[in-house]
Formats: sequence, C-alpha cells, structure tokens
Amino acid sequence: MKKIVFVTGANKGIGFGIAKHLGLSGWQVIVGARHCERAELAVEKLKSLGVDVIGWVNVELRDTESLAQTAKEINEKYPGLTLLVNNAGIPGDMSVDAQHTRMEDIRETLEVNFVGTFALTQLLMPLLEQNHGRIVNVTVPSEISPYWHPLAYVTSKAAQNAMMGVMAMEFQQKGSSLEIFSVHPGPTTTDLNGNMALPGFHDIDTVGEKMAELINDGLSHQGEFVELYPIVKED
Ligand SMILES: NC(=O)c1ccc[n+]([C@@H]2O[C@H](COP(=O)([O-])OP(=O)(O)OC[C@H]3O[C@@H](n4cnc5c(N)ncnc54)[C@H](OP(=O)(O)O)[C@@H]3O)[C@@H](O)[C@H]2O)c1
Repeated sequence: MKKIVFVTGANKGIGFGIAKHLGLSGWQVIVGARHCERAELAVEKLKSLGVDVIGWVNVELRDTESLAQTAKEINEKYPGLTLLVNNAGIPGDMSVDAQHTRMEDIRETLEVNFVGTFALTQLLMPLLEQNHGRIVNVTVPSEISPYWHPLAYVTSKAAQNAMMGVMAMEFQQKGSSLEIFSVHPGPTTTDLNGNMALPGFHDIDTVGEKMAELINDGLSHQGEFVELYPIVKED
C-alpha cells in the first residue's frame, strides 16, 4: 500500500517541489493550501506530472481554529496519513532591521511559521503516532548569520526549530513511535525571496528531489537539523 503525505503550502514553491518528488517516488499526496483555486491548479499540475494526488485540504495557519477542521478532515478522509511536511511559511518583512520591525509583522510571522505550524502538528500527532508516522519541518537555522538576519523570520523559525527539538526529545523519552526532524533547503528561487536566482540558489525541482531522497532514505533522523546543502568550511 502507498504511504500518504500531507504537504502544507504545496500549491507552489518548495512545497510543490516536495509534493511532486515524493509523489513520483511512490507516495500518495494530499495538497495543503489556503486558496481553492490555487489548490486545484496545483492538484491538476501534479496529476499531469504523474503524481497520485488523493485530494487537497484547506490549511490557513493564521487561523488556529480552522486548523481543527483541517485535522478533522484529514482524520476522516485520510486515516492512513504517515507523513506531515510542515512547509508553509512566510518571510515577514525582510527589508527592515530590528529597530524598525513592526509588531504586526512579528505577530503575523510568528503566527504562521510557529503558532499555526505547532497547532497543526499537535492536532495531527495522534493520527501520525497511530501510524508510526513522521513530521518534517522546512526551516532555516536558528544561529544568527552576520549576513542575513531578518528579525521576524529568524525568530519565528527559531521557535519552530525549538519545537522540533522539544518534541523529538519527548518522543524519545516516552518511547513514542513518532519521529520529527527539520530540514534547511538552502537558498531556493521562490516567491518568498522575489524569485532571487543568485549563484548558490537552487530551483524547486532540485530541492524537491533532494528532500524526497532524504525522506525516503530509510534512516531515522529523529531530532536532526539537516542541511540539504551542507556548508563546506575551508581550513
Ligand atoms: N525559498 C528559500 O530560499 C527558503 C530557504 C529556507 C527555508 N525556506 C522555507 O521553505 C518554506 C516554503 O517557502 P517557499 O520559498 O517555497 O515560499 P513560497 O513560494 O512563498 O510558498 C509558501 C507557501 O506557504 C503558503 N502559506 C503562506 N502563508 C500561509 C498561511 N498563513 N497559511 C497556510 N499556508 C500559507 C503559501 O500559500 P499561498 O500561495 O496561498 O500564499 C505557499 O503555498 C517556508 O517555510 C520557508 O521558510 C525557504
């Protein structure tokens, strides 16, 4: 029987690339999206590429109450779910320094990248645990880079990374069958960064394929922070 994955923010960008390549490697895919038209377009596109898309489910991470409905729908329609990919995310305002960051921006970015992501994960944990499932977060490192440090984005992702660490530890301590890990895809050309394509950036197909390889590698990655493109330090 095929394994079932739910990818949030799968209508475009890295999420679409992950959905495509997990699908092409044998997974049944549920597209997570927050707009009906965008979702249906992505479903059509994925199907035309040969992906076994079994449906799409509404996910609006800013509205934690609606996430109960998201989880209910998944439980009812797709009780065989074994993988949640927490991919959906927003950049916040990357043009300002800490002093000029608006509170509204901090709140919104935290709400989507951390609070909503945590709420959805928490709601789907019982089903995933029952199915010996996994949770994979798409993120950036918590360490502060001297070159790039947009406050709203990095704090929201640091909170998400802490969530991963805490959950992984608790799963191990409780002997739970659940696994959680985080992946930094590295710079990827998407709407999130205005489709920047500087040297070192990858496209969504390349990243999606590598993500699928990692997820399908048959190894445990409990509690790991995986760099999809590890930085090679020169001596
Ligand atoms: N691109 C990079 O260089 C890079 C590097 C490291 C990590 N990441 C991470 O990779 C993930 C995907 O980013 P991307 O670059 O592919 O960006 P993207 O092309 O902008 O896609 C973001 C996805 O998230 C969805 N989304 C945004 N706000 C949402 C909300 N409130 N509720 C539910 N879904 C929401 C979007 O849906 P709509 O289409 O409806 O807006 C879209 O499907 C993010 O978590 C990002 O932080 C990206």
